Order: sequence, then C-alpha cells, then structure tokens
Amino acid sequence: MYTCLLVYLFTSLPMLNVNEIRKDFPIFQRETKPGTPLVYLDSTATSQKPLAVLEAMDHYYRYSNANIHRGVHTLAEEATALYEQAREKIAKFINAPSARQIIYTRNTTESINLVAYSWARANLKAGDLIILTEMEHHSNLVPWQMLQMERGIELDFIPVTDDGLLDLDTYKTLLSRSPKLISFTHMSNVLGTINPAAEIIRLAHEAGAVTLVDAAQSVPHLKVDVQSLDVDFLAFSAHKMCGPTGIGALYGKAELLEAMPPFLGGGDMIKVVHLRSFRANTLPHKFEAGTPAIAEAVGFGAAVDYLSSVGMDNIAEHEHEITEYVLERLEEIPGIKLFGPSADKKGGIAAFTFEGVHPHDVAQVLDRDGIAVRAGHHCAQPLHEKFGIPATSRASFYLYNTKEEVDLLVNGIYKVKELFG
Ligand code: ALA
Repeated sequence: MYTCLLVYLFTSLPMLNVNEIRKDFPIFQRETKPGTPLVYLDSTATSQKPLAVLEAMDHYYRYSNANIHRGVHTLAEEATALYEQAREKIAKFINAPSARQIIYTRNTTESINLVAYSWARANLKAGDLIILTEMEHHSNLVPWQMLQMERGIELDFIPVTDDGLLDLDTYKTLLSRSPKLISFTHMSNVLGTINPAAEIIRLAHEAGAVTLVDAAQSVPHLKVDVQSLDVDFLAFSAHKMCGPTGIGALYGKAELLEAMPPFLGGGDMIKVVHLRSFRANTLPHKFEAGTPAIAEAVGFGAAVDYLSSVGMDNIAEHEHEITEYVLERLEEIPGIKLFGPSADKKGGIAAFTFEGVHPHDVAQVLDRDGIAVRAGHHCAQPLHEKFGIPATSRASFYLYNTKEEVDLLVNGIYKVKELFG
C-alpha cells in the first residue's frame, strides 16, 4: 500500500518545482510593464541569474577581491583559490578529465576564435577543408571565413533539411574529401535542433578530422559529457547558463591544447620572459593572458553549482514538456509558421513567422504585455536566407518558465492578430 503510494507520489511529482525555482531569481519580482508580470522568453539570448550567483560575486568583491596567481598575501591566495575552484566545478560539470583542460575565455565566440587563431593557424594550409553547417551562429562562421580569406582554406557546409535537421547523408559525402576540421553547433539557437553530436564526431574521427562543438545552447540545457562525446574542442558561455556575462570556456583534449601556440600574449600566460623571447606557461594558463574575469569565474562556478543542485536531467525534462506544449499551442494559431523539428528533436526554442506581420512588430506588441521574445536573424543570417526569410520571432525557455507563460505568449499573439488584422 505504502509502496504504491510512494510510487504514485514519485511518478506524479513534477520534475521541477518551478514556483520555488522562480523565487531564486530576483528579476521575477519586477514588472517591466505596470500591472503585468515579467514573462521572460529570451533565455537563448541570455539567461536570468539566480541569487546564489549574484551573492557569490558580491561576496567575492566584498571580502576576497585581489588579483590571482600574483600575490602571496591572504586575499590573493583566497581569490586564486576561488578562481581555480570554479574551474574544477566547470570541468566536473562537463566531465572533463582535468581542470587544466578548461580555458577561461570571454564567451563561446572567443573560445571558437581561440581555436581558429591558435590551432587552425598552426595546423591548416591553403586548400585544407573545414566543414561547418548551414545552421551555424555567426560566431562559428565568421572566424572561419576570416581564415579562408587569410589562408585560402576551403569551407563547405552540411545542409539543413526543410524540417530543420542536418542532412547526414551529405555530411558523409563531404567526409570523403578528407576535411581537417568539423565545427558544428550542438543545439541550434534558432531551430532548437539538437544535433547528433556523438555520431557526427565519430564519423569525423573516422575520416581523420578534428572536431569543435559550439555548445553555447546545449551545456545550459542538457547533460553534456565531453568524454562520452569524444569531442576535441567544446565552447560555451556562462551567461546562457545562469552565470554572468564576460566569461566562457573552451574545453580541449590535452594533447591538442599542449601542442597549440598561445593565443594572446601578456601576463600570466608565460613561464619566463626575456627581452627577445618568452616561454609559455603550462595549461590552462598558457591561454589566459592578463588579469582575467575573476568575479565572473566565481559566478560561473556558482551557476554550475546551482544547475547541478536542480539537476540537468530535470531541467531537460521540464524544458521538453514546455517545448511540446508551446509547439502544440502555436500550431493552433492561423498564420503562424514554425521553424525547426518536432519537440523530440529539439530544445526549448520556438522560432516563428506570423503571416503579414514583421517579427519586430510581433516582439514589440508582446513587450507591451511584459512578454520578452527576440526578433531578428538571431546571429544566424545564412540560416534565415536558407528558409527565404529575413527574420523570425523567437520564444525560448529555461528552467524557470511555465506553461502559464506559454498561454500568455499565445494570448499575446492573438492580440497581435487583432492589431494587424
Ligand atoms: N546567440 C544569442 C542568441 O541566439 C545571442 O540570441
């Protein structure tokens, strides 16, 4: 009897107590428009920050502020310990074999640029092929286009199908051209598509290529394990995963990072400097020139603690439920065209067009009711060109969003319809 009750209670309990989670985020106490709650549906652009992250950074500045790796006084040692402990937490979060394989950067964009400037410029020559996909964010296109202009490397692209998936048959054909690097997004910031990263990486390795995953959208929302993916480089940002802006990370396999030349030169990235020469520091410091974002690293570590305490599987399951619901509700609105695959193949992102209304107008009308969505090309212009549209409106969801907010979004879109006829 008791067992039955417990099983019932366990299976019927929601994965996340969203109402409790919302209390962790001070921003939800404010109204952006008088009398309406904030409905924040723009976490793909940046997530909101829980109190635990704000307090960790505040505490650091109030009580432990000092420069790192440079002093022997108590504060310097405390600051260094906090900075390095955060690195340990981040390494554990993505199951990196060692914290020395986590390089702090400013964000995903800088992580990708680090690979483009250091690994690619040391290893690629004119005619070498890099494979990207048609669904990349500009940050995984432009650094390679710059390399193409400078070095004459070649670029080719895995096509996106009409339903927003990668065309893996074409990928296999491209692999027969012996590419040197496959760089692709784990989760599209427009379509929400979760790409089969492990399979893409396995095929790349069989073809002798190095792999780079843009995990800006996946690490915040899914359990990502760099060892089971067997990925060579993985880039992500703190601000999309409840952490602060201004800090991100690059994970790399140790043998690749060891062999790479430094990216930026300056303090802390050196072991010895003479007037005409220097010897680079060991990992991870070799890639961290100058005073870094120390408070932000502390906040990054606190964000990882926060997400771990909620549980990444719980977050993914909650977002899956919301995604199923939002797609179902949006599909019922005449004139809405959704982009991307079905809910089982995507994360919590719904990009859409609304017949006869510009996406910016949709976003502006929604904003009157305190509903925050993004409108534009979302730094993925080639993907929009592929679908023959200049822009979409995009609602995106995270652990703190509710089905009631989806209903508010849908009501808001009906208001747009009334306004624009
Ligand atoms: N990459 C972020 C977005 O998709 C900024 O909105």
